[in-house]
Amino acid sequence: MQFDNQVVAVTGAAQGIGRAVAEAFAAEGAKVAVVDIRKDLALEVVAGIADSGGQAMAVECNVASRAEVNAAAREIASAYGPIEVLVSNAGITRPAMLRNMADDQWRDVLAVHLDASFYWLQAVVEDMVEMGHGRIIFSSSSTAQNGSIGQVNYAAAKAGILGLMRSAARELGRYGILVNAVAPSAATEMTEKVRTDPRFAGGISKSPLRRWAEPDEIAPAYLFLAGSASSFMTGQVLSVDGGNMLVR
Ligand SMILES: NC(=O)c1ccc[n+]([C@@H]2O[C@H](COP(=O)([O-])OP(=O)(O)OC[C@H]3O[C@@H](n4cnc5c(N)ncnc54)[C@H](O)[C@@H]3O)[C@@H](O)[C@H]2O)c1
Repeated sequence: MQFDNQVVAVTGAAQGIGRAVAEAFAAEGAKVAVVDIRKDLALEVVAGIADSGGQAMAVECNVASRAEVNAAAREIASAYGPIEVLVSNAGITRPAMLRNMADDQWRDVLAVHLDASFYWLQAVVEDMVEMGHGRIIFSSSSTAQNGSIGQVNYAAAKAGILGLMRSAARELGRYGILVNAVAPSAATEMTEKVRTDPRFAGGISKSPLRRWAEPDEIAPAYLFLAGSASSFMTGQVLSVDGGNMLVR
């Protein structure tokens, strides 16, 4: 199998896109760390992977805490060995119009997306340098390019992740470490409000594919960016959004 016994850590893997990514790596033979603040749900994901004959462990971690990120990375390394593929995917939204946004809405979103991506990068990089290989894949968003009404915090965090990703790609390429991002769009809890609120109903009819993706349709992009087919790709953003980027 493509990822036989490779050590893959996926943050925010208890549900949504992260869950689909974790399950897809496990189905390809990887040893998968299902990292999430929701240990109860992470354990369910692990049980499902085990039932399908895969290998996975649940790791409880608030990715906004450097201490918890470092502890989680150590826990994974001691159980499975050094992390070879990191998918930094955990995310939240705290929407509010700019004129009403409170400091904690700004801070929380920046912490879970941008601070966490920086913490995880530093938590895995030394082992990857020592191994001479590694793949790091961030979850960005079309909002990094287009902005988002009611989400200056989220769009700023996702744009920040792209700056982090490109700079890390430039610094780490010489060590055989490739760093990329996916800009997904899928039907998950995060997008439930825009999918069900009639005020946003027109949006999907403008999308070229005219529908939302299932998380399973997004996961292959992460496997591509972790596998041999993308061995000469770094510093890139792969949009897997049914062409939404074209029409916003
Ligand atoms: N769904 C989309 O259309 C879409 C679009 C663009 C970008 N994204 C990005 O893709 C990623 C996954 O989104 P999703 O739609 O699957 O969302 P989701 O809400 O279904 O899942 C997010 C996961 O992150 C976990 N999480 C939240 N805060 C955490 C924390 N502090 N520490 C650890 N785990 C935490 C949650 O428990 C959950 O399991 C996010 O980074 C999101 O911003 C999603």
